[in-house]
Amino acid sequence: MACLSPAPQPARGTSRMLMHRPVMLTEALAGLAVRRGGTYLDGTFGRGGHSGAILEALGGSGMLHALDRDPEAGAEAWKRYAATPNFRFHARNFAEVGALAAELGIAGKVDGLLLDLGVSSPQFDDAARGFSFANDGPLDMRMDPRTGESAAQWLARAKDTEIADVLWQYGEERNSRRIARRIVETRAETPIATTAQLAALIASVPGPRSHKIHPATRSFQAIRIHINGELAALLHGALDAAQVRALSDRILATLTGRPPAPKRIDARVRRVAEHLRDELPIEVHTESLAALAGLSAMRLMHLFAEQYGLPMSSYLLWQKLRRAVSLVQGGQSLTDIAQACGFADSSHLTRTFQGFYAIKPSLLADSSYVQVRLC
Ligand SMILES: C[S@@+](CC[C@H](N)C(=O)[O-])C[C@H]1O[C@@H](n2cnc3c(N)ncnc32)[C@H](O)[C@@H]1O
Repeated sequence: MACLSPAPQPARGTSRMLMHRPVMLTEALAGLAVRRGGTYLDGTFGRGGHSGAILEALGGSGMLHALDRDPEAGAEAWKRYAATPNFRFHARNFAEVGALAAELGIAGKVDGLLLDLGVSSPQFDDAARGFSFANDGPLDMRMDPRTGESAAQWLARAKDTEIADVLWQYGEERNSRRIARRIVETRAETPIATTAQLAALIASVPGPRSHKIHPATRSFQAIRIHINGELAALLHGALDAAQVRALSDRILATLTGRPPAPKRIDARVRRVAEHLRDELPIEVHTESLAALAGLSAMRLMHLFAEQYGLPMSSYLLWQKLRRAVSLVQGGQSLTDIAQACGFADSSHLTRTFQGFYAIKPSLLADSSYVQVRLC
């Protein structure tokens, strides 16, 4: 589901009271197909917009377990639903959803799981949380500020190559190397401690720019994803979902994000893409694919990347992961799925899943992209 919904503008001093407007509420409920008496998991309670709608659909029956790693979300859950008997809040990372289901004795009995990824509007709008370059605050960005490293701490110690990789992989920031170098130079003189300081530093680095977004947008997104381990959490949470369903049940896991969006596709390039999709070879053999297309290897690589928006090897991984997800729906074991989809083993499959989202962060960032329905 979508990460950030456009929030109402805060009046001065009231940002902490802002409500999160649930994104794609109708679609989420339709996807979950809530049935009375069912057991549901909301892995990202936030301010309870989706949870409230699920509870309404349950009409006092069944059970909703909600998770969030943010203590403020827990406080909100307590305030709103302390007296609601068919609701329970768990201050947990949704990466642990499988373990939690086992602890609660509901493994195999869960009817639906919702993950609405990213940060909530109140997190984003509260300057003290350090997610926003628009409101100056301490450079934190942790969804759970009680654990782990803040963005300021990480930026104070990471190597410039590590910072550049994060900016590129999770933000597709074309200026990643220059920004990383500037961060390292600056911190030798002054600690980078606030969001406004980091935003101004990034804006001062010359390089390619989009006029549509603030120059710091991509870097802030990337650092947030890194600091919160968002890809790893999604990987475990989404794959754990397969473990919490009833054996006789089905799992529908839909990657609904922006897939590589083909534009004007040359028929020869399409032939190669279809071959990769249908055959799922272990790896890309550029020479034989070039022969299939009737193009030189160089020309094929260039045209493919231009028209599909990513290299052939990444496209192949994407197709393998799509196939893997469809097999998860059929209830096969991860080991079998890995073998069927051309992965070395199940850990190769899970690492690739994570790596893939690092390659195409646009699938993760600020866009609807994952919905898991158990039914
Ligand atoms: C987009 S908001 C969810 C909004 C919520 N659906 C609503 O209607 O209010 C995302 C929430 O997920 C939480 N979150 C993000 N990653 C998480 C994780 N791995 N485990 C638990 N909660 C997480 C964040 O703290 C945030 O509160």
